[in-house]
Amino acid sequence: MRHIRLALRAAEPAGPGIRLLTLMDPDGWPLPRWRPGAHIDLHLPNGLTRAYSLCGDPAEADRWRIAVKREPGGRGGSAWLHDALAVGGELPASLPRCTFPLAEGARRHLLLAGGIGVTPFLPMAAALAGSGADHHLHLLHRGPPPLPAQLGALGDRITLHDTSGGRPDLGRLLGPSEPGTEAYCCGPPGLIEAFLAAWPAERARVEHFTPPPLPPLPDSRPFTLVLARSGRRLDLPAGAPLLPALHALGAAVESSCEGGICGACRVRWLEGPPIHRDRILRPGERETHLMACVAGCAGPRLVLDL
Ligand code: FES
Repeated sequence: MRHIRLALRAAEPAGPGIRLLTLMDPDGWPLPRWRPGAHIDLHLPNGLTRAYSLCGDPAEADRWRIAVKREPGGRGGSAWLHDALAVGGELPASLPRCTFPLAEGARRHLLLAGGIGVTPFLPMAAALAGSGADHHLHLLHRGPPPLPAQLGALGDRITLHDTSGGRPDLGRLLGPSEPGTEAYCCGPPGLIEAFLAAWPAERARVEHFTPPPLPPLPDSRPFTLVLARSGRRLDLPAGAPLLPALHALGAAVESSCEGGICGACRVRWLEGPPIHRDRILRPGERETHLMACVAGCAGPRLVLDL
């Protein structure tokens, strides 16, 4: 698994309970390139792994920016990044992954953010503005909005909706779902659910903060897991999780969220059929790939390209 070390070079307040961090290579070397919609995992000293969308400018080759909202009821990840990580401090991170890319060829892009879920949309909106694409960002927030300085740079391409008096009707806010219009949502689970109820799935893209509950595996049965390249195999009972089995077979498959939302454990499958329970692969991608942390198998053999 490829990790890099990052050093905190600057930290500044950026709205209510939000700390904007600038992370660089400790020796100032350029960082791996990324595209709008990408996120990284940070590996914290307390054993937690936390994913954050990159919210800076991909053209800044020597720095990544993330915005961390303090989560009072969380398990301590955001609190550590707020209180314990000082400028000059270092921590390991994954390479960037993009499971929330802009749709190429769409005529119009509607971006819907809930609170700190606006972070992936900052570079996405900048890229759309740079290419002259038709787009608009709707940000739902309660009280003062996050990242006010960054939002100001979006000009009239953003509409703020203070939900202190209730959430607006998403169907009315997004308008008719015409062919050629792609809509995106990043925010808390309730907002993503409402978005998916209001917009056709084939033109919808979502980015989750936390893994939603997994559906059961009603069609699963005992199966043989086969690694095509190494020839290794393992018999597994119905519903057995794939990741531990892959690790037992010596396959170097990465993982992070272990809930089907981050893209770390993507594997090509050759024979199945697999049962997909992730929230990121599009229908066409499922014909060839699965997310090993949540996938099951509906056939007698699951053959992976490993
Ligand atoms: S570990 Fe995140 S999708 Fe599998």
